[in-house]
Amino acid sequence: MEVLIAATAEEAATFAAEAVLDGLRSRRSGDNVLGVATGSTPLGLYAELAKAVERGEADFSTTTAFALDEYVGLEGTHEQSYRQTLVTELCNVVGLPESRLNTPDGYGDSEAQIRAQAAAYDAAIIEAGVDVQILGIGTNGHIGFNEPGSSLRSRTRIKRLSTQTRVDNARFFEGPDAVPTHSVTQGLGTILEARRMVLVATGSKKAAAIAAALEGPLSAACPGSVLQLHPDAVVVLDEAAAAGLK
Ligand code: F6R
Repeated sequence: MEVLIAATAEEAATFAAEAVLDGLRSRRSGDNVLGVATGSTPLGLYAELAKAVERGEADFSTTTAFALDEYVGLEGTHEQSYRQTLVTELCNVVGLPESRLNTPDGYGDSEAQIRAQAAAYDAAIIEAGVDVQILGIGTNGHIGFNEPGSSLRSRTRIKRLSTQTRVDNARFFEGPDAVPTHSVTQGLGTILEARRMVLVATGSKKAAAIAAALEGPLSAACPGSVLQLHPDAVVVLDEAAAAGLK
């Protein structure tokens, strides 16, 4: 695992963009496949990728993207859906066509239908082969929406959101009670199949989760610790997020 500690969150975004572009360049043939995350952390990274596009150093017009997760019960057209968030915060920023953005479908008439959609999404990810997976980490150590207790080999599935995650994400809704209770998330086993991981964490609220993920035991209690199993994981931190490391 490579751990890069930047002086500031802005510098972390530039380091992370380099790690992402480097990983995409190493693809031998065919169009790039990028795994993308939602949330506040990757916004600086997406802005840096956009600058690389402006400089002529990157082009996402033929990149295929797969999102990590989506809320159950929200249609992909819903304003608070992760799909719409990614259209605004990623596609429109880096020039990735919306038609090339794949997101889990957490909307359906029945649980069985959503389960089937999750299995089909997992199969599509494996078929495409993700070159680089961008990750953030929750304050409880989750990656994607794999909350503590997730199987280290899990596949894309329905997952109940923890109270802490619903409180953390309440800022995007009218309050914690308005945050959906479940998500469809890529499993830890699915995520680990990407050729490179680039996890970004900034701010002191992430320090404990980062210490547990990087230096704690490999454990379902901290899903982010699965990065310890990956042969090409790059972790980019600012000093505040790195403060708990020994
Ligand atoms: C989002 C995702 C989550 C977030 C995590 C951190 O697609 O998979 O694991 O990366 O909740 O969110 P922020 O960056 O908002 O602190």
